[in-house]
Amino acid sequence: MAAVLRGRFLPRVWLCRKAGQGGGRDYRAALCTELKQPLTVEEVAPSPVGPREVRVDVHFCGVNFADILVCRGQYQERPHLPFTPGESLMLFSLQGDQVVGVSFFNGMAEECIIDQKMLWQIPEKVSLREAAALPISYTTAILALEHRARTQPGETVLVTAAAGATGLAVIDVATNILQAKVIAVAGSDEKCKLAMQRGAQFCVNYNQGSLKEAVRKLVGSGGVNVAIDMVGGDVFLEALRSLAWEGRIVVVGFTGGNIASVPANLLLLKNISAMGIASGQYRDKNFPVLSKTLSSALQYCQQGCIQPHVGTLFKLEEVNDAFLHVMQRKSMGKVLLSPK
Ligand SMILES: NC(=O)c1ccc[n+]([C@@H]2O[C@H](COP(=O)([O-])OP(=O)(O)OC[C@H]3O[C@@H](n4cnc5c(N)ncnc54)[C@H](OP(=O)(O)O)[C@@H]3O)[C@@H](O)[C@H]2O)c1
Repeated sequence: MAAVLRGRFLPRVWLCRKAGQGGGRDYRAALCTELKQPLTVEEVAPSPVGPREVRVDVHFCGVNFADILVCRGQYQERPHLPFTPGESLMLFSLQGDQVVGVSFFNGMAEECIIDQKMLWQIPEKVSLREAAALPISYTTAILALEHRARTQPGETVLVTAAAGATGLAVIDVATNILQAKVIAVAGSDEKCKLAMQRGAQFCVNYNQGSLKEAVRKLVGSGGVNVAIDMVGGDVFLEALRSLAWEGRIVVVGFTGGNIASVPANLLLLKNISAMGIASGQYRDKNFPVLSKTLSSALQYCQQGCIQPHVGTLFKLEEVNDAFLHVMQRKSMGKVLLSPK
C-alpha cells in the first residue's frame, strides 16, 4: 500500500516492516478478566499478525465511556473474556511515522495489532496528545453535527455533557468549523467555565433547575436548531423540548444511564427530526465517510482550526483510576492512558 492520499495511507516500507514481525517480546496490557471487576495489568505474549494487519506501538490510548461499559458488560459488543479494552489510539512507528488509529479493542496495551485501513497518518504540527483525542471524540462530533444534523452557519447548537470529551469536541467543531453558536450544558460551574473558555456562547448548569426554562431565557421561545445529547433520560427530553421549528436532535450516548422514549407528537408539532449516531458503525457500513471525517479532523487540527483538550493523563497501571475518574464525572476533556 503506497502513500496514495496524503494524511491517509502509510508508507509501504513501514507497514511491511511492522507486519513482518512474527511476534517478539511479551508486552504489558490491561486485561478485563471478569466483568464489573477491576482490570489487571499483565505481561502477555504477542499474537501473530494477520493479513492486512500491522503490529504497532501504542503511546496513548483514549479512555472512552464505551471502554468502561464494555468492561461492565453493558455495551452492545460483548467480547470473550479475558480481553483488552481500548478503541482509540495514538500510535507511533519505529521509523518516525506517527499514526493514529481506531481498533475498537486492544488499545490499552504497549502494543496492538490493528487493521491497516484503520490507521491515519498524523500530519506535522499535530501533537501526539491532540491526535489521540481525534479518532472517537472528534469524528463523532463531526459526524453528528455535519453528516447527521446538517448544522448550518449561524444556527444554535445545544450540547449536553459539554465538558466531556465528545462535548468539548462538539463545541470546538460547531463554533470553529461550522460557525454555529453553542449553548453548552454541564453538571457543574467548573465544567461550565471550561465549556465557555472553549467557545460556547452560554452555559447552563443542569443541576440548577429546568434546562428547557434556562434555554428559553437564552434564546426565547424559538428554541435551538440542533441538540447533541450524550446523557439521555430527562436531559434528552428537555433538550428535545428546547428545539426550534425543524430542529434536529442527535442521540450520541446515555451517560445518565436512562434511555428516553421519544414522544412522537413533539416531532410532528414542530417538524422535528430525531436521529442517532453510532460512529463506529461507519467502519463497516460506510468506510469512506469515516475515513474522510477523521482525515478532516486531522487537517483541521493541523491548520489550527480546532484544539482538542486533553484533561488527564494516566499510566497504564492506573487504568482503574482512569475508569473511576470518568464514572465519578470528574473528567473534563479527553482522558488518556499512556502505556509507555
Ligand atoms: N454514538 C457514538 O458514536 C459515540 C461516540 C463517542 C461517545 N459516545 C457516547 O457519548 C457519551 C459521552 O462520551 P464521552 O467520551 O464524551 O464521555 P466523558 O468525557 O466521560 O463525559 C461524560 C459526561 O457525561 C456526564 N454524565 C451525566 N450523567 C453521568 C453519569 N451518571 N455518570 C457519568 N457521567 C455522567 C458527565 O458530565 P456532567 O457532569 O456535565 O453531566 C460526564 O462528564 C457516552 O455515553 C459515550 O458512550 C458515543
